[in-house]
Amino acid sequence: VFAQTNIIVNADQAEYKINEHIYGQFAEHLGRGIYGGIWVGPDSDIPNKEGYRTDVLEALQELDIPNVRWPGGCFADEYHWRDGIGPRDERPVRINTHWGMVEEDNSFGTHEFLRLAELLDTEPYISANVGSGTPSEMKDWIEYMTYDGDSDLANLRRENGREEPWDIKFFGIGNESWGCGGNMTADYYADLYRQFQTFAKNYSGNEIYKIASGWSDDRYDWTETLMREAGWMMDAISLHYYTIPGPGWGNKGPSTDFDVDMYYKGLKAAFLLDEFITEHSNRMDKYDPNKRVNLAVDEWGIWTDPLAGTNPGFLEQQNSMRDALIASISLDIMNSHADRVRLANIAQMVNVLQAMILTDDDEMVLTPTYHVFHMYKVHQNSMLLPSHSDTERFVREGDESVVRRFDIRRDEPGIPIISTTASEDEEGVLHFTVSNTHPTESQEVSIDIRGKNVSTIVRNSGRLLTASSVDAINTFDNTENVKPVAFNDAELEDGILTFEIPKHSVLVISVE
Ligand code: AHR
Repeated sequence: VFAQTNIIVNADQAEYKINEHIYGQFAEHLGRGIYGGIWVGPDSDIPNKEGYRTDVLEALQELDIPNVRWPGGCFADEYHWRDGIGPRDERPVRINTHWGMVEEDNSFGTHEFLRLAELLDTEPYISANVGSGTPSEMKDWIEYMTYDGDSDLANLRRENGREEPWDIKFFGIGNESWGCGGNMTADYYADLYRQFQTFAKNYSGNEIYKIASGWSDDRYDWTETLMREAGWMMDAISLHYYTIPGPGWGNKGPSTDFDVDMYYKGLKAAFLLDEFITEHSNRMDKYDPNKRVNLAVDEWGIWTDPLAGTNPGFLEQQNSMRDALIASISLDIMNSHADRVRLANIAQMVNVLQAMILTDDDEMVLTPTYHVFHMYKVHQNSMLLPSHSDTERFVREGDESVVRRFDIRRDEPGIPIISTTASEDEEGVLHFTVSNTHPTESQEVSIDIRGKNVSTIVRNSGRLLTASSVDAINTFDNTENVKPVAFNDAELEDGILTFEIPKHSVLVISVE
């Protein structure tokens, strides 16, 4: 055991709900994210339900996914929704110019996505085309999907097989409009945002929740300009942050067979999310002190170099125990900002970047990150319990290479060894997720629960995710190499929960 960490949880001081929508997913028309990964079509030999892979569908259903963002990403700003409706064999073939220049046959379009959302019992989050589209194209799409009456567009939807309108809430007005979404300046996008959002209409009682395209990382001036010029016209502004372990975008580091150094740098980079959320939120406070406008971290996760032998435009990477910790750390950070962060989307759901699921033909494997999302379900819509931890930090040379890419103000050397979230659900059950980031040492942890009487550990609630090494992965030949196991080694006495958590692992446990 390396050290003892004491966590104090004030169970009578909850103020904010951990919005379930922090646990959202992202499915872009990118590589095998949709085609092959989710959608194989009804005539495929791969077992499917209405064209959706049965294995993937069933695994995703287990995650209680609150929302899925679609169709991009960069793809969204070149997507024209009319290409993706009507008989599939009559839809036009376009070129996906962002992602590998591959042909897009549009067999997965609006109806297919919204049916997927129904099958997953999840809210659709649609990203509209601002970069190469028009306000009227966007307006028509909303009418097509949500109007209940007798307009031509609503009737076209009916002709295409859908009688009832859909409920569409989350609606993004552009994506990365400073980059692939149009290379705009902040002032120009602020004006366009104002224009486009004017035509994001509410039909038939549907209410659109408008999400402006924010910047990524530490570009706070963009957020400031948008809040000043259009803050009162939006429900949320987005933030993108990708964890890159290597020295930069040209050399992001591998997703397999990496050493402790790459592990450490990956976790160090993940912890920076806290500063970015804090600083963007501070800029928002200037114009929105009551925090009406949400920060939507609608793209996050680890981005490594592509796997050897794959199309670099497909962003395919493996997913290791390190990545599970990057997920748990990032979710803890977003939970801790529940006052401002009320929507987030990990990039991406299947086969792309930090995926939940990898597929190869008819084979499927759940990644370590999938298991973290499964373990963290307990926090969805639970109240965040304020907690304080005296965790020591794990310090190692090499921090600078990760940190110096950004304008960082509050960084300390190293990374916290213990990361945690405490929450209380509607039934009064308290849930704790605890991650030990140390690569070689277990930790003694005590959680001192104050302000509420608890007497028992909920039966079978303890689950531990760990692996033999930080770069351990699941493969199609060894699908259960990294998976959660029962954890029964905790004790609860006088309101204090104690346990030893192994090196590089994630734990969930509940008490009542
Ligand atoms: O998730 C991959 C890409 O990353 C998205 O399309 C884009 O928005 C971001 O740059």
